[in-house]
Amino acid sequence: HSRVKLGSQGLEVSRLGFGCVGLSGVYNAPLSHEEGCSIIKEAFNRGITFFDTADIYGEKHDNEIMLGKALKQLPREKIQVATKFGFVKSESKGHPLIEVKGRPQHVRACCEASLERLDVDYIDLYFQHRVDTSVPIEDTVLCPMFKLRALPIEALLATLISFDVAAVYLKLQCTLRWQSPEGSMENRNRQYQIFFEMGELKKLVEEGKIKYIGLSEPSIDTIKRAHKVHPITALQMEYSLWTREIEDEIIPLCRELGIGIVAYSPLGRGFFGGKGVEETMPNESQLANYPRFNGENLEKNKLLYTRVSNLAIKHGCTVPQLALAWLLHQGRDIVPIPGTTKVKNMINNVGSLGLKLSEEDVKEICDAVPVDEVSGRREMRLLSEYTWKLANTPLK
Ligand code: ATR
Repeated sequence: HSRVKLGSQGLEVSRLGFGCVGLSGVYNAPLSHEEGCSIIKEAFNRGITFFDTADIYGEKHDNEIMLGKALKQLPREKIQVATKFGFVKSESKGHPLIEVKGRPQHVRACCEASLERLDVDYIDLYFQHRVDTSVPIEDTVLCPMFKLRALPIEALLATLISFDVAAVYLKLQCTLRWQSPEGSMENRNRQYQIFFEMGELKKLVEEGKIKYIGLSEPSIDTIKRAHKVHPITALQMEYSLWTREIEDEIIPLCRELGIGIVAYSPLGRGFFGGKGVEETMPNESQLANYPRFNGENLEKNKLLYTRVSNLAIKHGCTVPQLALAWLLHQGRDIVPIPGTTKVKNMINNVGSLGLKLSEEDVKEICDAVPVDEVSGRREMRLLSEYTWKLANTPLK
């Protein structure tokens, strides 16, 4: 199982990650913590070291708690944990509602709660789950923090004047924080330091609580603005044979900026594992909320599955293996995170790493699923307003 660099800041992950969400019940009934942990451990034994969760996954944050338990039985330093903040569950007139929050205080509170539930000292990769379009992205991420060296108060004031602090303040729109290293502001002879700062994620990085920053479903503009104020290590985007919207602009931009891509729902939420086609959807499954798995759409989409299935026969592999191999061949900066509730399927997915496809093979697989022949939107309605195309934030 090979390893790859994700982004340009030094993060290294396994070529294939593992999406934990399904373990807490999305497409099937939730697994017990014991069962969930045993799949995570099996995945680690097969070379998967990159595990993805989020604070919103499962009832009462069950998914993070489960992953935390699994981590207790694994060498923490060999694992890369990704989690996310930003979704908040609420209700309106008895209907479930999902809100997105990205204000600095909220980011900090979420991060600290995730650390506690995972019971770890640091999160390797912390994603903003969806962009809060009411908060300038710079407030969520951060501009560089300047720290002037500690000086006696007179010298500090002189430095500030020469530094033209007003100009810096206006340009960056940052908050100014005075701090005496000894904590007291009373003694004139004490040394003082000055900080220019704003935003929250960067502060969490400085405190060591998170190592790298990621964004999920940001717009082109949001990626550029965020990356300007703090390096973004990875985007988490839906990417699979039947969801290829990011190929036109997002992937080229990421390559230009050195940002890695974590491909979520790489099996199309199980479609390329045969869900809804070869296997019926279990009663507990939320798949019915996804337009592509509904009635007429599903009937039409089955044709796409059949085509990929024929190609899988040609390559002597399973359909999910071919769907994952196709993604792996899009570049070493693309890290798919398939999820499964079954060890057998996890092992099958790891098998995709051994498949070699030629350029013609890749094209043939691509052509078998023309995007304009896919029926239905990729997202469920509840989340449709939070897709990357709508994820611009206000200017500072
Ligand atoms: P997401 O990122 O949303 O979790 P995904 O990884 O594209 O979505 O797909 C997850 C689904 O694929 C799960 O329903 C999983 O079902 P099982 O728990 O029954 O395995 C299904 N899946 C994953 N790998 C599979 C495989 N090798 N064969 C069949 N189904 C598979």
